[in-house]
Amino acid sequence: MALDTQISIAVIGAGAMGSGIAQVAAQAGHRVFLHDQREGAAQKGRDGIARQLQRRVDKGKMEQQDLDGVISRIQPVASLDEVAEAGLVIEAIIEDLGIKRQLLANLEELCAGDTILATNTSSISVTALGAEMKKPERLVGMHFFNPAPLMALVEVVLGLATSKAVAETVHATATAWGKKPVYATSTPGFIVNRVARPFYAESLRLLQEKATDAETLDALIRESGQFRMGAFELTDLIGHDVNYAVTNSVFNSYYQDPRFLPSLIQKELVEAGRLGRKTGQGFYSYGEGAEKPQPQTEPEHPCDETVLIVEGNPGAATPLVQRLKESGLTIVERDGPGQLRFGNAVLALTDGRMATERAAADGISNLVLFDLAFDYSQASRLALAPAEQTSDAAVSCACALLQKAGIAVSLIADRPGLVVMRTVATLANEAADAALHGVATIADIDLAMKAGLNYPEGPLSWSDRLGTSHVFNVLTNIQNSYAEDRYRPALLLRKNAFAQKGFYS
Ligand code: NAI
Repeated sequence: MALDTQISIAVIGAGAMGSGIAQVAAQAGHRVFLHDQREGAAQKGRDGIARQLQRRVDKGKMEQQDLDGVISRIQPVASLDEVAEAGLVIEAIIEDLGIKRQLLANLEELCAGDTILATNTSSISVTALGAEMKKPERLVGMHFFNPAPLMALVEVVLGLATSKAVAETVHATATAWGKKPVYATSTPGFIVNRVARPFYAESLRLLQEKATDAETLDALIRESGQFRMGAFELTDLIGHDVNYAVTNSVFNSYYQDPRFLPSLIQKELVEAGRLGRKTGQGFYSYGEGAEKPQPQTEPEHPCDETVLIVEGNPGAATPLVQRLKESGLTIVERDGPGQLRFGNAVLALTDGRMATERAAADGISNLVLFDLAFDYSQASRLALAPAEQTSDAAVSCACALLQKAGIAVSLIADRPGLVVMRTVATLANEAADAALHGVATIADIDLAMKAGLNYPEGPLSWSDRLGTSHVFNVLTNIQNSYAEDRYRPALLLRKNAFAQKGFYS
């Protein structure tokens, strides 16, 4: 059951996260004690909340009396002793095991035996934080996302000793505060900071391998993948120091599993002090008058062909065929391995092999691979990767085909899995591994990725839509291409592929 609003909440640490959490609890109707060891910081935190909310009042999105109510419920307190009567204490202080442990020890002395102690840590083990506590069962992770008032996700993290009842109370309370909580076990990165690693890592790797430039990769992730932002614009926003530190922390915590390998490109940005928006330069420039570079987009390609031959079942690309039909082409259907012929070009959805390798292995001349789209009926851009053996005329026909349906084409170099397919397959793989290891349930992993990072769809449900065996093939083929452990398919994905079932079915 959720904590009653009569019960006071205490937030320790009035920085970016603590102030946001205090606002959320006060908006839900609780009295909130806000404490920070830095003199005046708690008062400053409350003033910051008032300023934020005033903007909402000015825009007519909030009543003045509601703002006054929220602010009157937040009480900055100079001494830690003054939080003693709170029923739930959430710490959001500096990310340091020793300092957090000391605070928890002080809180255990001060607070009643049934007070719940929660930590907003993003990278420290809840188990380790509780190890020296008298009653570690009352410590739980309550991991909010930045900015806490806007982001819906809360990871409720159970350490080895955390009581189930305590976790349930915090989960229910987060729901009562308008959040979307999920349960996670205390493992490195919990859900989101672990499962999201491939989103950054694969774009970084494709950039390093010169598949194309950063702006084109970002555009493909947005316009084909329907993610809000590409990896480069997002890491510029997060800050490369922060994002690189999280990657390193997860990489080292998993004993340097190559799946989490950090990127040399990002390391170099950090070393150069190009931390993103906050320093005016990251992958992009943000100074006065800086213009964002445009993605590589193919000019209109001439191709007189009007007949599209659909050979076999196009699988996940079926909606693309439908869109091409609607663009006025004549469609001829016949048996085949699930590919499209237009002029002398053969187009196929990537299966994780390079076009050059697939053309040679399957004896296909003029092969051009296309990328995955979240929804082919909406996608405004798609990546094409021709095989080394493919003629220029065939590449032109492949471009022209998509252009006839109003889809912008970015030609990229022939790399395994292209861009969106490779990103989605590796995200699903990481999610499947987290599920197998009991980090969280399948539904909670998908919910976390949507509510915490605004992904258009949870990676496991997306994998189901694509077909587990296709995702498994993509990963197996990427792994074969690189001969690297980084792409090894997760056991649960492998099992589901052979069982011909999805994660939800
Ligand atoms: P911050 O640096 O903005 O604020 C931390 C505050 O804690 C400072 O005002 C500092 O004076 C105060 N503080 C430090 N030691 C203290 C102590 N012993 N007693 C009382 N107050 C103390 O940091 P931020 O970003 O708010 O992070 C706080 C916690 O939240 C960290 O554990 C961090 O890992 C976690 N977190 C941060 C996120 C982010 O995006 N910034 C997202 C989710 C979690």
